[in-house]
Amino acid sequence: MTKNADTITVAGVQLNTGLFINNEWVAGRGEPLQSIDPATEEVIATIQTATPEDVDDAVAAARNAFENTWGTNVSGQERGQLLFALADQVEQNIERLAALEVVDAGKPCAWARVDMEDTVACLRYYAGWADKIHGTTIEIDDKEKHAVARKEPIGVVAQIVPWNYPILMLAWKVGPALAAGCSIVFKAAEQTPLSTLLFAELVRAAGYPAGAFNLVNGVGAVTGDALARHMDVDKIAFTGSTATGRRIAVAAAQSNLKAVTLELGGKSPNIVFEDADVGEAAKWAAFGVFENMGQSCSAGSRVLVQAGVYDAFVAEFKRQAEAFAVGDVNDPKTFQGPQVSKLQFDKIMGYIAEGKKGARLVTGGERHGSKGYFVQPTVFADVEMGTKIADEEIFGPVASVIKFGSEEEGIKIANDTSYGLAAAVHSQNYARVQRVTRRLKAGTVWVNQYTLLSHAIPFGGYKQSGWGRELGAAGLEPYLTTKSVHHYYGGPFEWPINLSKL
Ligand code: NAI
Ligand code: MG
Repeated sequence: MTKNADTITVAGVQLNTGLFINNEWVAGRGEPLQSIDPATEEVIATIQTATPEDVDDAVAAARNAFENTWGTNVSGQERGQLLFALADQVEQNIERLAALEVVDAGKPCAWARVDMEDTVACLRYYAGWADKIHGTTIEIDDKEKHAVARKEPIGVVAQIVPWNYPILMLAWKVGPALAAGCSIVFKAAEQTPLSTLLFAELVRAAGYPAGAFNLVNGVGAVTGDALARHMDVDKIAFTGSTATGRRIAVAAAQSNLKAVTLELGGKSPNIVFEDADVGEAAKWAAFGVFENMGQSCSAGSRVLVQAGVYDAFVAEFKRQAEAFAVGDVNDPKTFQGPQVSKLQFDKIMGYIAEGKKGARLVTGGERHGSKGYFVQPTVFADVEMGTKIADEEIFGPVASVIKFGSEEEGIKIANDTSYGLAAAVHSQNYARVQRVTRRLKAGTVWVNQYTLLSHAIPFGGYKQSGWGRELGAAGLEPYLTTKSVHHYYGGPFEWPINLSKL
């Protein structure tokens, strides 16, 4: 392995393009990977990737750290201090991290900054948990026995994230894993590796022991698959498409039955009832589907509107969609930048073409400009369930507005999907809000709001939107395992055993 792999400068930030293993940069032996700026369509970086052998090296480093210098060798208090130090490092580098996400992911600069601030908050939240991870004592028989159910870190974890929120998705995974004492082999998405290269430097600067956090970039089918099949990875955490999540679950089952958590796609219903404040509902609905260029797993891409307010809502929703500033990612006023890649752009334009065949195009429906992967905020009304734009995750700035009559019908349409990540209810009627939220099959339900999450509130999916939860106290659980220790201090073992005492 060659030390000191190449460095490059992107957006004024110097980056090492190699793999980060044992707190050192090493050369990746895989095919180099080009990263593109989706606003200009130009290649901005070529980075190194990990072969399955490189993945073995990274897992070995993580294992060595876990057994000897990290894991249960380090107290919760120290783990907390390290994680606070890492959050400080991120905070000091917000501008540089955000600049990288602007050019690599196409995020408008103001929104890239918001992601970084959320990242710092998320890391600090989990730093606070590190010394509050307690097991339980279970009294069985106060004269003979009690048990202690210890909470221990689960071990070496692989973490694979997508490209829509590169560093924020990292924080959701790395925060609880490091708080728990797990060691990590991390893979960023091939479209957006750059900010994670800088993050690795910050891990080292924060003072983590070598091997606690390792970074292996690469494409899913090679590097990701090697992680999912690895025999010495104890747990894999994944965010991305349902198709890839399914592959990862199969790879885990076919290898060492590693624990799996999956944060997958959605086709989330945003339900507007006749008793809603229609103006407010339209604002949240527009934000809910167009935020991050529609590239959010929880995007409210099905807007279900009750007949009595349907026309008024569609008019207001159109006005909101047309008010968003699309274009220059370096202008702080810009709301919407380009889609992340040509592949995603083409896929979205394909869905728009499908939509035009059956539904009513209210606004948008075309490429924005002629350079970069920009798509106009697009609203289709009178969309029928059973059509592609009503059923499939588009992952772009495309809303499907669907009309419903009764409350019962609204709930039925909302739940008529294989996904179950998020939903929202807009209504001023308290009893209705209670009735409907209870019946929605979704891991997150907003009432009179949309999109806004908090690191303190669990997030995850019902049905094919995933397994497990991230964020909040629930987000720590997948990184912990329980060891029940039975303490016996009764009399001598007597044979034959008195069966009535068992
Ligand atoms: P993807 O799910 O294939 O990629 C996400 C991550 O998984 C990347 O890091 C990728 O390298 C990795 N990966 C891919 N194949 C793998 C494998 N066999 N084993 C292990 N890791 C693997 O998503 P992709 O192709 O970028 O986007 C396709 C669609 O997925 C989007 O159009 C969107 O509908 C959905 N998606 C959903 C996201 C979410 O937040 N739920 C995020 C990104 C995409
Ligand atoms: Mg890129």
